[in-house]
Amino acid sequence: MADTHDHLSDHEYDGIREYDNPTPAWWHVIFLGSVLFAAVYFLYFGFNRTAPTIWSQLAAQQTAENKRIFGALGNLNPDEPTMRMLMGDPKFMNVGRSQFQATCAQCHAKDGGGLNGVNLTDDHYKNVATMPDLFKVISEGAGSGAMPAWKNYLSTNERVLLAAYVASLRGTTPAGGKPPEGNPIPPW
Ligand code: HEC
Repeated sequence: MADTHDHLSDHEYDGIREYDNPTPAWWHVIFLGSVLFAAVYFLYFGFNRTAPTIWSQLAAQQTAENKRIFGALGNLNPDEPTMRMLMGDPKFMNVGRSQFQATCAQCHAKDGGGLNGVNLTDDHYKNVATMPDLFKVISEGAGSGAMPAWKNYLSTNERVLLAAYVASLRGTTPAGGKPPEGNPIPPW
């Protein structure tokens, strides 16, 4: 057991004397430990390009999640038969809906009726004449960037699925949808 008695130090100034209370050893250990930890942490995450970041972790999780969702389907083609196949499967339409609501609803509204993005449920389109055009617009964007390009943010499979989901919105009746914009196109 360490000596816990206070020691009066030798010096005196204007009749004032002081106790000698050294910082305890555990405090030094924590202090030096955190300095050391900070140095190692900074070197590892600051200069090591292979160190995991929240972005790379997210990408890895997203890849695993895509594998789980798309399973045996493999890589989807952005063509009409593939989109019709996805539209016919409620399981995929559910995934498409949650992706749409997370990524697209801020501009197109949850039900596709349109906010500052266009109404996706009517028969009028500005940049679309066929189902694969949906994939093209989602990938490349439109309206000089008013509709963002998603090809660097969403995988091909996700974009094919979103195109199929958007195609499925056509003919639905959103609450308070925006008036039609663009030209009417033939049914899918
Ligand atoms: C920042 C707002 C914004 C977001 C987010 C957004 N869009 Fe758009 N989108 C727009 C605008 C604005 C247009 C109309 C572009 C134009 O005027 O040509 C548009 C157009 C479209 C079109 C073409 C419609 C047509 O009439 O030609 C599709 C399809 C589409 N968006 C799907 C999506 C999907 C799917 C997502 C989510 C991955 C998405 N959008 C996210 C703003 C947005």
